[in-house]
Amino acid sequence: MIKKELCKIISQKEIAQDIFQLNVEADFVNEINAPGQFVHIRVAKALDPLLRRPISISSVDKRNSQFTMIYRKEGKGTTLLAEKGPGMLLDILGPLGNGFPVNEVKAGETALLVGGGIGVPPLYELSKQLTAKGVKVIHVLGFQTESAVFYEKEFLEYGDTYITTVDGSYGKKGFVTDVIKELDFDCLYTCGPTPMLKAIEKQYSHKKVFLSLEERMGCGVGACFACVCKTSNELDDVSYKKVCSDGPVFRAGEVLI
Ligand SMILES: Cc1cc2nc3c(=O)[nH]c(=O)nc-3n(C[C@H](O)[C@H](O)[C@H](O)COP(=O)(O)OP(=O)(O)OC[C@H]3O[C@@H](n4cnc5c(N)ncnc54)[C@H](O)[C@@H]3O)c2cc1C
Ligand code: FES
Repeated sequence: MIKKELCKIISQKEIAQDIFQLNVEADFVNEINAPGQFVHIRVAKALDPLLRRPISISSVDKRNSQFTMIYRKEGKGTTLLAEKGPGMLLDILGPLGNGFPVNEVKAGETALLVGGGIGVPPLYELSKQLTAKGVKVIHVLGFQTESAVFYEKEFLEYGDTYITTVDGSYGKKGFVTDVIKELDFDCLYTCGPTPMLKAIEKQYSHKKVFLSLEERMGCGVGACFACVCKTSNELDDVSYKKVCSDGPVFRAGEVLI
């Protein structure tokens, strides 16, 4: 069940340039049922900014009723969020959305996890859950530049991890798609910028692929239609899905991106 809760901040630290790791305590942690779900955060008590900010859950610690988020300080909302510290209370709505289906791969099979920039965080909990059930996991993580790279060491604990940077300052120069064409896998899970998702969907239309979409959101719970995207099985039969409540994870081909 979705809950609105005042959650205590346990810790917050900058782990790469403008990238923050935020750990909070929440009763609704027990309701989180899949990696890739997200929460909606009210960053200020004042009217501005009015809208909550959607942030993915990057790892879950049910024993201590805590979960972690990783976000980039960008606009007004995330800048206000970055100013908060341990002991402060955050108004959070969650858990929201449908996450990555871990049952689509079996023990002994290989899953390829492909993240772009701030699409990397939800893949961390996914990697933990897949390896726990005996799936071999390979990560390909793409960033703009060396100062934006985070969680390489953490992902390496679970499987091979390839890093790409657009400017070549760290890892392999180029895009994640340059690396994944050399890898073999049974199922691909990805989250990141839309051009990256499009390229992956096009390249692997014959494979089992799940994409997490980032759409602008209003309510986050399916009530306002701010996040609709088109779905189409046949060209003349177009309908809509809501990224917040039907997604954010979709099977490749399910929605038009
Ligand atoms: C399901 C989901 C999961 C996300 N997970 C993460 C994450 O784990 N880490 C992270 O850094 N970012 C994540 N984002 C993107 C994050 O929500 C935006 O970067 C953030 O809302 C920008 O807020 P701002 O105040 O910094 O920017 P502003 O420019 O001040 O925001 C203005 C408005 O635009 C909306 N907005 C801006 N960019 C986006 C965007 N890409 N997606 C949705 N709404 C947007 C804001 O919510 C706000 O209403 C996620 C987005 C979605 C939809
Ligand atoms: S954000 Fe309101 S319906 Fe999705």
